[in-house]
Amino acid sequence: MSVSELKIPVNQNILEMEYAVRGPIPIRAAELRKQGKQTIPCNIGNPQALGQDPIAFYRQVLSLLEDPSRIERERGINRLMSQDPEAQAAIGEAGSISGYVLDLAEKILSTHGANVGAYSESNGLFFVREAVANFINERDGFDPGGPLSADPERIFLTDGASEGARHILQLLITGPGDGIMVPIPQYPLYSATIRACDGTQVNYYPDEETGWVFDRGILEESLETAKKDGITVKAIVVINPGNPTGAILDRKTIDEVIDFAGDNGIVVIADEVYQENVYGAEFVSFAKALGDRDVPLVSFHSVSKGFYGECGHRGGYMELRNPPTAAGTDLSFRDIIFKQASVALCSNLVGQLMVYLMVSPPPEGSEPYALYVQERDAILQELEDKATMLREGFKQMDSVECFGRTGAMYLFPRLGKLPEGTNDFDYCMALLEETGLTTVNGAGFGQKEGTHHLRIAFLPPKEMIEEVLPRWIQFHNEYVNR
Ligand SMILES: Cc1ncc(COP(=O)(O)O)c(C=O)c1O
Repeated sequence: MSVSELKIPVNQNILEMEYAVRGPIPIRAAELRKQGKQTIPCNIGNPQALGQDPIAFYRQVLSLLEDPSRIERERGINRLMSQDPEAQAAIGEAGSISGYVLDLAEKILSTHGANVGAYSESNGLFFVREAVANFINERDGFDPGGPLSADPERIFLTDGASEGARHILQLLITGPGDGIMVPIPQYPLYSATIRACDGTQVNYYPDEETGWVFDRGILEESLETAKKDGITVKAIVVINPGNPTGAILDRKTIDEVIDFAGDNGIVVIADEVYQENVYGAEFVSFAKALGDRDVPLVSFHSVSKGFYGECGHRGGYMELRNPPTAAGTDLSFRDIIFKQASVALCSNLVGQLMVYLMVSPPPEGSEPYALYVQERDAILQELEDKATMLREGFKQMDSVECFGRTGAMYLFPRLGKLPEGTNDFDYCMALLEETGLTTVNGAGFGQKEGTHHLRIAFLPPKEMIEEVLPRWIQFHNEYVNR
């Protein structure tokens, strides 16, 4: 039989799994680019694809870790520069690598005890997990060594937060009778992975008009509906700050989620990859709010977002608190996830080391500190400014409203008016064809029946937004009134 006649049955869940962030709209954008048209990829939170420069400190250390032979060479250059003003002028400050960075790279390599081409332990390098634990303790005010102190043995380094989410969902879901609660709208990693694992997505609906707020009543309602349908809810996913809504949860809501989970014997999955993207608001971690409550918590962080924007490096971590025991065994979730991690051998080493840098910024007074702070603050300020520009633009668009505070990297405006017989997918496609702006329609994240939205990442350079926004406003007002 020739391959063209061969029809192989495959996993139906994989066939039906959807991931709009890389779906038909971005696929069409890629076609347009092939035809030589300019597009603006706001469909995904990929900062460096839109011109965000990497933080110099990260790249200097990472490049030395990849090529340790440069450490001595750079030391030699520094000596030369300090002795010879002409050499200093020729080489220039910008290209020089500080003694702090050189010492740090050397220290990392000697602690690792190998080159970065070597596998690490399955759960990641111990000293990196230790640094993550210190970061969590500092962030959440936990006494190191105290009862709430983060435990490096309950931290897993992962290829981005996505891998952590896959591990925990694969472990929890035994079949279609198992439900995972997800907010609507949600980041489609969750819907897609739940589908791939043959589980059931149980929706809960934060209230858009009050800024995507929810309370225990909303959670109980969704749990009750699931129970009536014969579904056993195993976990609740919370994305804070939210993707696609940008909503930032307050302490009261987080406490309610934890109590709800505790009372119903379910696991809290807290996706906190946008914890730096709060623009003046306060981020409260689930670990901090959990305190000594005996509720299982899995939380994620990542090098992809914040001001780091290193999503191509695929680094992240997952922290477990109160890991439960798997039924029918005496194995804790920690041990089973360790086994899952072992199957992939380990997450990539450069990603692990990038996590180390994320959680160990240069200390105040060190040579790279001033530039690091300057770059960090400029990126975060610019993100906020760009969100504000877009929000101002929405005010000039007929029947567009954007609720809630600015968080994460996205705005999720509601399209209150569309031509008869069209939906948000048609709108986003037409917007792409007309302006090159590549967004994702609300249905890709889930939305309340009868509503229409789009998600836009506020990442393009300001000048690009200034150029495209008037064209978008014009397109919008013509499209919805045609
Ligand atoms: C809410 C959320 N979680 C997880 C991820 C995936 O992050 P990573 O690149 O760390 O896998 C994303 C990416 O956009 C996200 O928005």
